Amino acid sequence: MTETAATHQTETAPTELPPTEDALAFPNDRTCPYRLPEGYTRLRDEKEPLRRVTLYDGRQAWVVTKHETARKLLSDPRLSSDRTHDDFPATSPRFQGLRDRRPAFISLDPPEHGTRRRMLISDFTVKRIKGMRTDIERIVHGFIDEMLAAGPLADLVSQFALPVPSMVICQMLGVPYADHAFFQDASRRLVQSTDAADTVAARDDLDRYLGGLITKLEAEPGGGAGQGMLGSLVAEQLANGEIDREELVATALLLLVAGHETTASMTSLSVITLLEHPDQLAALRADPGLIPGAVEELLRYLAIADVAGGRLAKADIEIDGQLIRAGEGVIVTNSIANRDGAVFEDPDTFDVHRSPRHHIAFGYGVHQCLGQNLARLELEVILTALLDRIPTLRLAVPVEQLTLRPGTTIQGVNELPVTW
Ligand code: HEM
Repeated sequence: MTETAATHQTETAPTELPPTEDALAFPNDRTCPYRLPEGYTRLRDEKEPLRRVTLYDGRQAWVVTKHETARKLLSDPRLSSDRTHDDFPATSPRFQGLRDRRPAFISLDPPEHGTRRRMLISDFTVKRIKGMRTDIERIVHGFIDEMLAAGPLADLVSQFALPVPSMVICQMLGVPYADHAFFQDASRRLVQSTDAADTVAARDDLDRYLGGLITKLEAEPGGGAGQGMLGSLVAEQLANGEIDREELVATALLLLVAGHETTASMTSLSVITLLEHPDQLAALRADPGLIPGAVEELLRYLAIADVAGGRLAKADIEIDGQLIRAGEGVIVTNSIANRDGAVFEDPDTFDVHRSPRHHIAFGYGVHQCLGQNLARLELEVILTALLDRIPTLRLAVPVEQLTLRPGTTIQGVNELPVTW
């Protein structure tokens, strides 16, 4: 046993693997925008911190059922994030198609991961993001103005939740917002397609588009310098060979897609959750100072990036009395860990006074979300503005009639009819 493995050894012998025919199907679809699917509640309530599940392709993987074990595993260097590896646990055919190209840093392990992430980190610090508040407020109020002018019926997703983070990430990266119809559609296909070939086609469309932008930036006087993050990466890291073109395209794609799909989903599901919990909404109206804490509670409660925490064991790992063997897949399901009663009292209750600090909606360990400060600020500005500007906002259809995205992707809705 290696030295690191020894640190995780427990005093009792690891339990035997549960029989394979006992493995539950995973992932599960939500039937309510904010409640755990029934299968996840069962997993969450199990005694063992790891449970065998069966994926769509018949392969098995471990799902982590406890918050503490999730954090230990997400900071364990024996687990790899290499999504191009054949044995990486695929939760839908979408992942199979994407194994073929050099990945961005979300799929790299240390030390390469750290080298790439450090190229971007200064653009996402708390201080840098705080400096964007006025711009974000202007963007948020601009889209509310347009929605109000066209209302009193709107699709909150296409008229507000998607455009706001799209415009913000475009300005940060230096991607023209005028192209939003194209990249929003390609991103949606990329994260939601259930077919490997469609997913690859969407990825290739985005690759070609971003590759074209990079070529244009290189041709600019100064090689792109001063033209957003993408311009700086072209003028500095690409020009001096620290990153090659293929990886830069993959990085730009990751930032563009993660930068708008996630915050858009959080916005829609947050609005639904608040409207369905009028007492909590009233508490926020009475004291808008609660909004930053409410954003944390919404992140905990909604856990939209539910299947983002896939990993592959590079070595045998004994953890909390169980044994993960080298070559086995592990999936940290944020929604399950965020509802662990040992860490969050009364975990299934949505409570804006809770201000939970230890949720793992942004992951944990070296891959913890790079954009979390940005997402937090966007959500805070969005909720503040919506509460203030549209006090009579309500769903235009019963919540049961909303079509939820399947459990295989970022949780959310593709349409949200609202009125006021
Ligand atoms: C509420 C919104 C968001 C949620 C819930 C979320 C969630 C996550 C999660 C769970 C991970 C970890 C994946 C893993 O462990 O493999 C992650 C990573 C990442 N996120 Fe986010 N994210 C959000 C918003 C954003 C935004 C706005 C950006 C902006 C560009 C962003 C960029 C990234 C990047 C680049 C990574 C990879 C980090 C790394 O591998 O070092 N995310 N996100």
